[in-house]
Amino acid sequence: MGSRVVDNCPDKATATSNFVYVSEADELGGYKYVESTGFVFGLRAHALVPDGSVALNGVQRRILRVAAKDGLELRPYRPPKDLPFVAMVYAKVTGVLDKVRPAEVQSEELINRLLKFKGQILTKNQHVAFDLDSGGNYKLMIEQLLIDVEGKSLDTPRGFLAENTAFIFTNDGSSPITIAGQKGYASSQIFKTKTISFESLGIGGLDKQFEAIFRRAFASRVFPASITQRLGIKHVKGILLYGPPGTGKTLIARQIGKMLNGKEPKIVNGPEVLNKFVGQSEENIRNLFADADAEFKAKGDASALHIIIFDEIDAICKQRGSVRDGSGVHDTVVNQLLTKIDGVDSLNNILLIGMTNRKDMLDEALLRPGRLEVLIEIGLPDEKGRLQIFKIHTSKMSENAFLAQGVDLERLAEITKNFSGAEIEGLVKDAAAYALNRNINFDDLHAPLEEENIKVTMHDFEKAFEEVKPAFGASTEALESYRTHGIIPCGEAFDHLRETLTTLVQQSMGLAEVFNVSLHVPSLRVDEMVKVLRHLDCFSVMDIPQAVDLLTSISSKVVPMKKLLLWLEMARQDVPEGQKIPLARWEQALRDLS
Ligand SMILES: Nc1ncnc2c1ncn2[C@@H]1O[C@H](COP(=O)(O)OP(=O)(O)O)[C@@H](O)[C@H]1O
Ligand SMILES: [Mg+2]
Repeated sequence: MGSRVVDNCPDKATATSNFVYVSEADELGGYKYVESTGFVFGLRAHALVPDGSVALNGVQRRILRVAAKDGLELRPYRPPKDLPFVAMVYAKVTGVLDKVRPAEVQSEELINRLLKFKGQILTKNQHVAFDLDSGGNYKLMIEQLLIDVEGKSLDTPRGFLAENTAFIFTNDGSSPITIAGQKGYASSQIFKTKTISFESLGIGGLDKQFEAIFRRAFASRVFPASITQRLGIKHVKGILLYGPPGTGKTLIARQIGKMLNGKEPKIVNGPEVLNKFVGQSEENIRNLFADADAEFKAKGDASALHIIIFDEIDAICKQRGSVRDGSGVHDTVVNQLLTKIDGVDSLNNILLIGMTNRKDMLDEALLRPGRLEVLIEIGLPDEKGRLQIFKIHTSKMSENAFLAQGVDLERLAEITKNFSGAEIEGLVKDAAAYALNRNINFDDLHAPLEEENIKVTMHDFEKAFEEVKPAFGASTEALESYRTHGIIPCGEAFDHLRETLTTLVQQSMGLAEVFNVSLHVPSLRVDEMVKVLRHLDCFSVMDIPQAVDLLTSISSKVVPMKKLLLWLEMARQDVPEGQKIPLARWEQALRDLS
């Protein structure tokens, strides 16, 4: 359909309609929409537009990067059948001209005006010019379009503006226009910017988890109450972050406030809430919720979001009845907490974030739907995460040129399998300590340190690596090497034997499951010990009764089989091949070991 010559809009009404106009004779005239450079516009024919021209307003010309008299390719656009209706538009409002006087605009007037564009197709990053009855020409800069799919909000690049499309007007401070009265949007601007990363807050390797937290706990809060009610979305009121110690949970608690708009989250530590004075723990919990309570009573759903972070929540939410301090304080505290999230007293304006190293210890009632229902594991970081964490904890060093060239953080990330964030931090500190030590003159502790000489080298990291060992997990290589107990497959006969044995073991394990019994080797009584020792033939027959005596007197009356074998192994160590274990040696070994 080809190129048209760009022209100005014939009048003010056409310029603020967001349509593009062609002449009445134009062959495109029969189409409702046209597309150009990725944007879609509603199309109208107009008597004042010359043949072969397309009339655009200034804002349209700007996003299409054309000026009057330029040529512009236009293609008819047929909306695909599945082109969605937009549930929510995130947009910024500024003046049409870059220089504009500060002004306050009522959001209601804005929305009423924008809904006149109903039926038009919006594309992300599009700018739309419009005017207001109260005066002024503005443009809407579309930042994000959300659609609703089964209660979830999803991003879309393009969609129809509908009668019930909601708008959230954002302002990053660059526009002098203030939007007043964004009612029901109180919690809509939860995050300070839309592109926050955990890494910039000094938390490494948890971007995926953060996304999950956002998607599952905050996404519904981004919608104004008017929409969530219509969609029947229930806000998530509680999430639980769990995982091994040292992985950054407390760190998240301390930093999360930095990326949220508005109210600082309240952070409490489980053990701190508990108080030995009767009634004090309950009061602590009440105080914790007091602000949210008051605001919810006053403003209902328009209330801002109150985030309450419970670090080490296991301390107060142990299985009810499991804590035998006789006071029942735990039980009342847990009950109290539950009613706030999901009971008669329940508040809709709270988000409770619990954190724990011991999910297994938690009262199950706490994890039911409607309570701490979103469980997010904060596990040990993977290689990419470890690299991020190394970067975070060496950034100061490298800024100040204390990090020697040749320190290969990628390599360090590779070899620190199963290290937690805290352990990586420890490793960095340890390496730094080596570097400092090297520069201390122990003969003259008053000698000045020569700063330029202090460099943390790869060698320092390697020495530190020898010292710092991860507490959790085991390296897979190590496990792998133990897998066959050091037995090396040595031919057909071996394979046959191993297969048969494996089958046997699997069968008996299968059977064990069927009968619901566990296989275990019982501890040995005295008469059994005699039999075992006789069978093993490691003492001379005459010594056996006394060997058993020694065993039971030094150790205990019943001895697990495994322990016995271990002791025998130890006792046998210095005894020449083929000889029996002397009683004196046996006694020695027992005393050494028990
Ligand atoms: N993912 C991480 N990124 C950066 N530093 C971390 C990370 N995890 C742990 N650390 C470091 O270890 C310290 C202790 O971690 P912490 O948040 O107390 O662990 P948790 O609460 O999970 O037991 C933190 O203050 C931080 O210095
Ligand atoms: Mg912690």
